[in-house]
Amino acid sequence: MSDIIKIKEEYISKLNQDIDLNQVIQIKTELFGKNGKISNEFKKMGSIPVVAKKKFASDLNEIKDEIQNLISKKIQEIEIQEINSKIKNEKVDVTLPERSFNKGKIHPVSQVIDEISSIFSEIGFNVEEGPDIENEYYNFSALNTPDNHPARDMHDTFYLDKKKEFLLRTHTSPVQVRTMLKGKPPFKFIAPGRTYRSDSDQTHSPMFHQVEGLHIDKNLNMGHLKGCLNYFIKEFFEVNKINMRFRPSHFPFTEPSAEVDIGYEIKDGKIVIGEGDKWLEILGCGMVHPNVLKNVKVDTLKYQGYAFGIGIDRLAMLKYGINDLRAFFETDYRWLNHFGFDPLDVPSSYRGLSR
Ligand code: PHE
Repeated sequence: MSDIIKIKEEYISKLNQDIDLNQVIQIKTELFGKNGKISNEFKKMGSIPVVAKKKFASDLNEIKDEIQNLISKKIQEIEIQEINSKIKNEKVDVTLPERSFNKGKIHPVSQVIDEISSIFSEIGFNVEEGPDIENEYYNFSALNTPDNHPARDMHDTFYLDKKKEFLLRTHTSPVQVRTMLKGKPPFKFIAPGRTYRSDSDQTHSPMFHQVEGLHIDKNLNMGHLKGCLNYFIKEFFEVNKINMRFRPSHFPFTEPSAEVDIGYEIKDGKIVIGEGDKWLEILGCGMVHPNVLKNVKVDTLKYQGYAFGIGIDRLAMLKYGINDLRAFFETDYRWLNHFGFDPLDVPSSYRGLSR
């Protein structure tokens, strides 16, 4: 029997045994490696007499192909076997107790921002945003707040440089200016976000939240402002009736200006909104001052409108019976677990705002 037939028979029988992947690879190098048996046969080709060469070459190639096919088949078989045995061993035991996991909670402020956005979007308000770090112009000057206005006092404002050019915005009103500069009237949007003032006690935190509202169009008057706020407060507190009072006030960027109080009473130790003879201030508002509109190149002979700024944290405290504002920002997990909301409880007017 010729050498190559011997090699063939020896290795085919080896490959047909129950061998593992390493052994197959071993066989592959034994035959086809640099010094492999089949490789060496190919090297002999040069010394074979011409008459026998043709047959030798064709036999050798045939054997090479046959063994290589067998090797690939074997590797495939072994892999399939491995997968099958893995599947068999990794059966799920449905009788095991479930693994516990922690579901996060939505912070009441985030929830209330979603509620507010949902209510205003129902009556055509977009949602806009502006930066927390503002410059003096957007936060004050463009809003008709002159240099000597008390709101500019160091006491209230966190300035970021000696020249008092940059600051942490003290209200969301600069978003009015930024948004109007970006587009053309009419404007109808709200702008919720963080605001900063140097103040801290049970009802004041140096960082707090406001939502700005701005509506500019032809023929808007204070009646529209009143109707809009009345609608919002009723929707937000989910009541049919609300006592609301407009108190004359002053803001440089509105004229006339008002602060709005809502009526409440304490029943069984709980605050009830919309009834009673006590008053609670919740927002500032007014008709946008023509100087503000001029600063953003809005034609004051054609357009006018109203603006308001609502304290979001205050609303959240009232609605959800939370009495210390500072706890909002202490990141106490137990507090969040108690006052937080389910992540899937997305507020909407259809599904109900709160549960
Ligand atoms: N920016 C004012 C504040 O922070 C609130 C306000 C907004 C008043 C818009 C009138 C109009 O107190």
